[in-house]
Amino acid sequence: MFRAINQMRRFSVDLRRSGKTIAFVPTMGFLHQGHLSLMEKGKSLADRLVVSLFVNPTQFGPNEDLAAYPMDEARDLELTQKAGVDAVFIPDVQHIYPSGYQTVVSLKFLSGHLCGLSRPGHFDGVATVVTKLLGIVRPHLAVFGEKDFQQLAIIRQMVKDLEMDIDIVGAPIVREADGLAMSSRNMYLTGDQRQQATCLFQALTASRQLVKNGESSVEAITRTAASTISAVPETTIDYITICDPQTLEDVSFVSGPVLMAMAVKVGKPRLIDNMMLTP
Ligand code: PAF
Repeated sequence: MFRAINQMRRFSVDLRRSGKTIAFVPTMGFLHQGHLSLMEKGKSLADRLVVSLFVNPTQFGPNEDLAAYPMDEARDLELTQKAGVDAVFIPDVQHIYPSGYQTVVSLKFLSGHLCGLSRPGHFDGVATVVTKLLGIVRPHLAVFGEKDFQQLAIIRQMVKDLEMDIDIVGAPIVREADGLAMSSRNMYLTGDQRQQATCLFQALTASRQLVKNGESSVEAITRTAASTISAVPETTIDYITICDPQTLEDVSFVSGPVLMAMAVKVGKPRLIDNMMLTP
């Protein structure tokens, strides 16, 4: 386990010198089955696997849950060990953002949709920290979950734009038995809310079925999904969007594969989920 940037960098430089390939899974810790599936994918694609645990303050807005974000380093270390991770990088905030730090990585268009609208600055924080982590860990490939579909699209675009020479690999959403997408934030849900939270998955699967049955009006599909979710107590819809999976721009009609994405508060926790809809 490394806390110092230079130790982490030395580990990777030595591996690269000896001809080994490195997969990287960046996380904010509080690991769950979803993270473990990213690690499994990383392990299968490279000789060595590095995981980072870093709750990145710059991707949280002033009224978001940074201070309350769940952490359990000892448990995370145990899980990474069991998963066969070769190195865990746990930097301090003051090393990632030392005094005088100035640079922000920002994407012009992809950040301006979906979660970017309700979380201004969030994706600048993500793109900036991922750029830094990739620069330190120097992996050949990095694995990101499709649950944060917009994040994955942004990282792919950023790596392409900046000629980073790193493969960005997407991994499918991992769900609980009742369909709830795994997330570190699920632990904030109370007993009733945990039950209510399945409404995101239910609305997505019902929308997928509508499209399979021939519905093509985005207005009709999102209206049905919104009424399914609004009927569940304690839910507040942030957005329900059907968009082009490449540009993330809204579409009006479903004429090919589209992405349906949503963010819904269930009590306090804000949950996100998505699914491809194919006519
Ligand atoms: O998906 C996350 O956990 C974070 O956004 C990431 C990619 C680790 C950057 O802080």
